[in-house]
Amino acid sequence: MSGSITVPPSLRASKVLGIGGYRPTRIITNDEIIDKIDSSDEWIRTRSGIETRRWASDEETVVNMSVAAAGKALANAGVRPEQVDCVIVSTVTHLYQTPSAAVEIAHKLGTNYAAAFDVSAACAGFCYGLSLASDMVRSGTAQHVVVIGVERLSDLTDQYDRSTAFIFADGAGAAVVGAGNDGDEAGIGPVVWGSDGEHLNHIRQKKEWREALFGADGPEMPHLVMDGNPVFRWASYEMSKVAQQALDAAGVSVDDLDVFVPHQANMRITDVMVRQLKLPEHVGIARDIAQQGNTSAASIPLALERMMEAGEAKSGDLALIIGFGAGLVYAGQVIRVP
Ligand SMILES: CC(C)(COP(=O)(O)OP(=O)(O)OC[C@H]1O[C@@H](n2cnc3c(N)ncnc32)[C@H](O)[C@@H]1OP(=O)(O)O)[C@@H](O)C(=O)NCCC(=O)NCCS
Repeated sequence: MSGSITVPPSLRASKVLGIGGYRPTRIITNDEIIDKIDSSDEWIRTRSGIETRRWASDEETVVNMSVAAAGKALANAGVRPEQVDCVIVSTVTHLYQTPSAAVEIAHKLGTNYAAAFDVSAACAGFCYGLSLASDMVRSGTAQHVVVIGVERLSDLTDQYDRSTAFIFADGAGAAVVGAGNDGDEAGIGPVVWGSDGEHLNHIRQKKEWREALFGADGPEMPHLVMDGNPVFRWASYEMSKVAQQALDAAGVSVDDLDVFVPHQANMRITDVMVRQLKLPEHVGIARDIAQQGNTSAASIPLALERMMEAGEAKSGDLALIIGFGAGLVYAGQVIRVP
């Protein structure tokens, strides 16, 4: 036996260093979609809290929106693209099986041949990616990691489907994760995550690609379908428990918390979680869904960015984030706002 494997000596603290988002320019009002789903502006506002959403144009691709969001996050973090060691992209709407969106994004950002890969964890994707990035930085595998949540859900949404057409939307959000200085406390708490395959079919692509393209009814886009009601109940009640576990894992109480940024699935789900967690009045609640719709993996960084820009989340604040969605999958952690 010869030689020995050298590993970085000890775990260090990881932090979110910067956040950035990209919102497509085209704003879609409820009035523009209600005729196709026999609905009303009032029903959509009351049942989901959504007033407008954004749908991407042809030029606002998964890659282009991601590059814009990540560029902003890097600028806010004060990190140059060539300092990035890894790019993680969470998405379920990059319509190429291969190569990954992450490789093209890493290239367009101008990284120095950074490692790059995509993650498929639906609306929990940003928190999954953040957990991976945090562990890479803590263990010394990477110095700086860009985590992106990006979706063009309008591509996979049937505009005539009453349970999805008013909810899903497009956008990108990004975070830069890096190491703290010696002696710094952790900026990203332990993740609490999991999956529940018993509910595999509650949110799903209607058909697999071969069936959609070559099946008897094809060719057609294999749209997403959702059993809204069971998802609503699962998200509201089970995810409140996961959110509490994420607080406990970080050793943080609701009184210590400054902001709560849950996945922007439905305003009513957020309201139930706020009540279940008994969040005190002083905790700022992300409500980006009203203007942005449900952007799946992009929703948490976009919502946090809006709160930071509005002064509702300040540098150093403690934020509880939690993502949940198709799978069903979930992940939550406490982070310090950069
Ligand atoms: C989709 C959702 C808003 C539907 O709300 P809901 O209260 O569960 O609605 P239901 O399906 O039980 O239907 C209730 C009534 O509204 C009607 N309805 C359903 N969709 C409608 C629409 N788009 N417009 C108008 N009426 C609608 C139904 O026909 C039903 O009418 P009825 O009472 O006369 O029979 C809700 O289930 C939801 O938000 N689920 C979670 C979705 C989500 O967050 N997904 C992403 C997770 S990542």
